[in-house]
Amino acid sequence: MSPSKSIFLKALNREILPTAPIWYMRQAGRYMPEYRAIRKKFSNFMDMCKNPEVCCELALQPLNAYELDAAILFSDILTVPDALGMEVNFIEGKGPIFNNPINTANDIFNLPIFDPENVSYVFEAVSNIKNAIHEDIPLIGFTGSPWTLAAYSIEGQSSKNFNKTIGFLKEQPHAMETLLTMLTDACFIYLRKQVQSGADVVQIFDSWANLLNEKEIESISHKYIKNLIQYLKQDSITKDIPIILFSRDPKCSSNSLIETKADCLSLYSTMVNFEKELTYGRVAIQGNLNPKILLESRNIIKDETYKILSKYKDYPGYIFNLGHGITPDINPDNVKYLTDIVREF
Ligand code: CP3
Repeated sequence: MSPSKSIFLKALNREILPTAPIWYMRQAGRYMPEYRAIRKKFSNFMDMCKNPEVCCELALQPLNAYELDAAILFSDILTVPDALGMEVNFIEGKGPIFNNPINTANDIFNLPIFDPENVSYVFEAVSNIKNAIHEDIPLIGFTGSPWTLAAYSIEGQSSKNFNKTIGFLKEQPHAMETLLTMLTDACFIYLRKQVQSGADVVQIFDSWANLLNEKEIESISHKYIKNLIQYLKQDSITKDIPIILFSRDPKCSSNSLIETKADCLSLYSTMVNFEKELTYGRVAIQGNLNPKILLESRNIIKDETYKILSKYKDYPGYIFNLGHGITPDINPDNVKYLTDIVREF
């Protein structure tokens, strides 16, 4: 990697750039016909994630289509609970279903220690992708946040309000702390191995931060994200790896997110009044076009995109991205159009 050439790494290093680097959350996925052609060969999405050659091919698809400034590992955040014996499968029309979710405090105390051998397929995918991409294109590895992984592990499936998880949090706070601590350790080992295998940057997805109130987000989510970031910053292998934090619609101040010590904050679409003045010079920013805008006309796409680019044009460390992942209903031609107009700005 010649880091001096990557505008993505420059932005993460808080440089002001003439053009914003671009990548998209969920840039590989069902909205792409090339993805669907491969996906239909697997009935269970998890089996596809366990095939490092296929993961490599899928990670390259969006780079080939749009010449993006970063690649992201093709995998899923649910590989970690799967590796802890919870057996995650994806059922058509239902999303992820856990065979052994956490039901009681004892289930937590009986969890095995995370063994990275159980996810060796992820590290193989990382090294395959790293070998296949141009040396100037950084590769992003990722994990779910401890809280987000705990929420899926208890709920055992996707849910709108995660009632079982919220109930468990109220009734079993000590067991919850144990689970969050175990997951923090697992995430650290998981990311460290991804870096050893070739990841240049890592992103932490706190996709269910929105379930927590302002007080809980500190003690249930950010406390463990801070620990994870501290472990990464202290480790000889990961200490110089930029860390991006995506938090979905968090009920907290921008300061609380900055205090996690992430190098870059990935802003959710609703974070329009995020205090730019407060974050200026302290943290890089990524985001945050609402993915739904990609369903609108080209005039609207351009207006909304240029509003965001104007806002951040002199910001030290700005990366263009969406506020959340691309959804399956988006037309790939609009993703191409969006990429072109960001570069023309
Ligand atoms: O290019 C990329 O970003 C692809 C890599 C990637 C996937 N999942 C592939 C995927 C990444 C970074 C993720 C992260 C992920 N997985 C998150 C955090 C990001 C976010 O959106 O907040 C979460 C919460 C998950 C868990 C997950 N994975 C769910 C709940 C689902 C089912 C819902 C859905 O979108 O279908 C998935 C499935 C999934 N992960 C797909 C892909 C491409 C679709 C699977 C399919 O083809 O059926």
